[in-house]
Amino acid sequence: MVRTHVAKVLKDAQPGDTVKVGGWVRTRRDSKQGFSFVELNDGSCFSSIQVVVDADTPGYDSIKDVTTGSCVSINGEVKDSPGKGQRVELHATELVLHGTADGDTYPLQKKRHSFEFLREIAHLRPRTNTFGAITRVRNAASAAVHEFFQDRGFYYIQTPVITTSDCEGAGQMFSVTTLNLERIAEVQTKLDYAQDFFGKRAALTVSGQLEAEIFACGTGDCYTFGPTFRAENSNTTRHLAEFWMIEPEMPFYELTDNMDLAEKFVQHVINRVLERCAEDMEFFNLRIDKTVLETLRNITENEFIRLPYTEAVDILQKSGQKFEYPVEWGHDLQSEHERFLTEQHFKQPVILFDYPRTIKPFYMRCNDDGKTVRAMDVLVPRIGEIIGGSQREERLDVLESRMKECGLEPEEYWWYVDLRRYGTVPHSGFGLGFERLIQLMTGMQNIRDCIPFPRVPKSADF
Ligand code: 4AD
Ligand code: MG
Repeated sequence: MVRTHVAKVLKDAQPGDTVKVGGWVRTRRDSKQGFSFVELNDGSCFSSIQVVVDADTPGYDSIKDVTTGSCVSINGEVKDSPGKGQRVELHATELVLHGTADGDTYPLQKKRHSFEFLREIAHLRPRTNTFGAITRVRNAASAAVHEFFQDRGFYYIQTPVITTSDCEGAGQMFSVTTLNLERIAEVQTKLDYAQDFFGKRAALTVSGQLEAEIFACGTGDCYTFGPTFRAENSNTTRHLAEFWMIEPEMPFYELTDNMDLAEKFVQHVINRVLERCAEDMEFFNLRIDKTVLETLRNITENEFIRLPYTEAVDILQKSGQKFEYPVEWGHDLQSEHERFLTEQHFKQPVILFDYPRTIKPFYMRCNDDGKTVRAMDVLVPRIGEIIGGSQREERLDVLESRMKECGLEPEEYWWYVDLRRYGTVPHSGFGLGFERLIQLMTGMQNIRDCIPFPRVPKSADF
């Protein structure tokens, strides 16, 4: 018999059906009357299935080794469950023990473990309630991302992971090299990138935007959904060295069109996750953050506030609030400022736009005031910035002078500049940090728990 997911059994199976399930044992209780109850979880849904195993069931001789963490498969008959909280249970007709888990050493005993501890056993944490739920939310959110763009006729494009251009110009790139660094350190004082694999300095991408723009200016609306890498040495609860980003890019979109799309996009993904992961979301609301469902409803049911950066600075300066970092026009907003605006002042998501040009990358469209660019950041409660985007500079001469202002050589980005030389078009796009969205939706405190295998300073295990 082929194995059925526990989720399907709990949802659809009828009394009298025979099924096979397999998974990892959460608990086992033995009754005095000579049978046992086994709680089995296979990750297909939040709930475990209750299995009743009689003493005369084939395989019962191994029941003493069916301990927490062991792996078993069970053939059985579905019956109405007399217990509370479950519709059906399974009465075993055969039990097979596949792998034992020694109770003295198995790290996941039936007590609550801290998330810090679970990070150290990232190979086992998918077996916990919290990480099972996060896995399902990530999966539903990924599907919702594709669904949103596919329904609107956007093409999913794959941009390179290895690149020779720094999109954000922030110099936070991880080098990719085959040079023998140890040998060079011994005998040379300088690296010669001409001798390197790609013949010049290469790195892991910080963003697929520049290549996405190539397709936006060729085949139209498109999006990327891939891993990006930043060697920022920031040990915060919102930064990863490797994270996934969704970057749509649209020709003929101005900044306001870009904002409209970003708002609908965030709302769509949240709505789908609320629908498809209802049981998991109840869990997050009960055990992780009691306000998470309310926060998400607030985001999906209200329009986002839109506000120029300059007005936000004014609000912050007049707020009377004590901030760790002072607010000053021309400086990047800190997470504490972003959170004040969205959590306390507006109590809603906020889109800030028209940022000072000195704090934003070269590709953003310059405003006529000479001071600001057509940038936008979407801010949400608890997280702060979840999306960064802009209208792109489509004017050849302005782009070239802006690149020089940012210390970049237009020749090195010749292909990017060419898009303005031949058939240029007003266009816009944005990037959503996928793990920050997962953090928002689950209420998890630390972004390191929102990706299966976090990469952060001094840590890249598993
Ligand atoms: O604001 P960022 O740097 O924008 C870009 O990379 C643009 N090229 C996007 C575009 O216009 N196509 O990053 C976008 C988002 C941020 O708003 C944040 O959600 C997330 O990526 N992000 C991070 N997430 C986790 N860890 C980090 N270190 C992150 N850095 C940015
Ligand atoms: Mg940003």
